[in-house]
Amino acid sequence: MANMKTKLGDLVLDNPIIVSSGYATETPEALRKADAFGPGAMILKSSLVEEEYSRLVKPYAPHRFPAGRFEFTACEDGLLMAAAMSPMPLEWWAEWLAKNRKSFKSPIIASVAGISVESYVQGAKLMEQAGAPAVELLLACPAPYFRPFKYSMSADPQVGKEITEAVKSAVSIPVGSKIAPLSVVARSVKQAGADWVTLGGVNLAAPGVDLDTLEPKQPYAFALSGSKVNKYITFHYLISVASISGSCHISAHGGVQEWGDVAEFILYGASSIQAHSIFMLKGFSVIQSLKRGLADYMDKKGFASLDQMRGVILPKLATYDDFLGAYAETQGKVISKVDEALCNGCGICEDVCAFDAIHVVGGVAKVLNSSCEGCNLCVADCPTEAISLENVALLKKQAVKA
Ligand SMILES: Cc1cc2nc3c(=O)[nH]c(=O)nc-3n(C[C@H](O)[C@H](O)[C@H](O)COP(=O)(O)O)c2cc1C
Repeated sequence: MANMKTKLGDLVLDNPIIVSSGYATETPEALRKADAFGPGAMILKSSLVEEEYSRLVKPYAPHRFPAGRFEFTACEDGLLMAAAMSPMPLEWWAEWLAKNRKSFKSPIIASVAGISVESYVQGAKLMEQAGAPAVELLLACPAPYFRPFKYSMSADPQVGKEITEAVKSAVSIPVGSKIAPLSVVARSVKQAGADWVTLGGVNLAAPGVDLDTLEPKQPYAFALSGSKVNKYITFHYLISVASISGSCHISAHGGVQEWGDVAEFILYGASSIQAHSIFMLKGFSVIQSLKRGLADYMDKKGFASLDQMRGVILPKLATYDDFLGAYAETQGKVISKVDEALCNGCGICEDVCAFDAIHVVGGVAKVLNSSCEGCNLCVADCPTEAISLENVALLKKQAVKA
């Protein structure tokens, strides 16, 4: 069977499926449930040292959102949420970890948030002393109470660098930086010595509208997680970050729902994946199907290890310049062609064509070659796959590198 071992810095994981920090790791009970299915690692719910926790989080706990208890709403493809920090400070987690970590099969990684460089350092040291095998620094939290403090959001590369550097020189366990997925930030935390970067898509989101009452559908929602949309955003960032990652591992998250998503992240250059919402929506047994699906896929494709599989798609992507060059070269020659035997004359192609280049005549679509711009929209929309593009040299490479 394929070897699924992977690494976060020097920490070796049995498999690349990590239960990421959040509600799914917020209590010892949740961690026990997840552990039973053998994830590669679990990352504790993020927390702060007592002093900052009292100032920032405590006023919200235990009723973190006093206007109501709608923290989560399942939507068509993911989870709208307004979650907060751990209701327990890091000191509580450190004590718990020291007592309990040996009774878990999977490594339990600490997650440290903060509003000052000093508190990140203090928190990471505390968790190292408690036996955490690695620490992830939360540098990308959209929680509203972090907003006044520059340390919550890592859109500023200098902030990510400052915190990562300080923590790296204070502890000897591997240190990962969970960042907003910006290449400039990834570069800065890598330069600061991060052993891994955790990046991916969690979109800021607003509630829908109740069309009967004309009220927002829920009192608050600030992020959309678990959605496939987020996965595609993460792919985009993986492309740009892969080229600067060097020895720094990438742990990718955002929208993992099934094993194929895990495989895609690895093919895009990630060493591990972090998933969260899917466990909240479907339970931790999903860990097993992610592992099994990935292992079967690796066997089928002949990938003996994750290293062999990692980043395989990257060289196959075109750069933006390649794409523009190819487009300029073939423009005018790339045109749609209709297979009349397959065309059912539905007229969708005619409706969508912005160049008025395709018309249904006598029940069959006909292309006006002089007007067709080869944009591919009629090909994409045709329900009977009757349309294709001719002269498609520019489409040899399908995607555009960031
Ligand atoms: C309810 C909830 C709480 C979360 N809390 C944290 C947190 O405390 N720390 C953190 O680093 N990420 C937190 N996250 C983000 C997740 O770890 C994960 O990165 C994100 O949800 C994207 O993965 P997904 O699309 O599989 O859910 C939270 C996510 C959810 C849904």
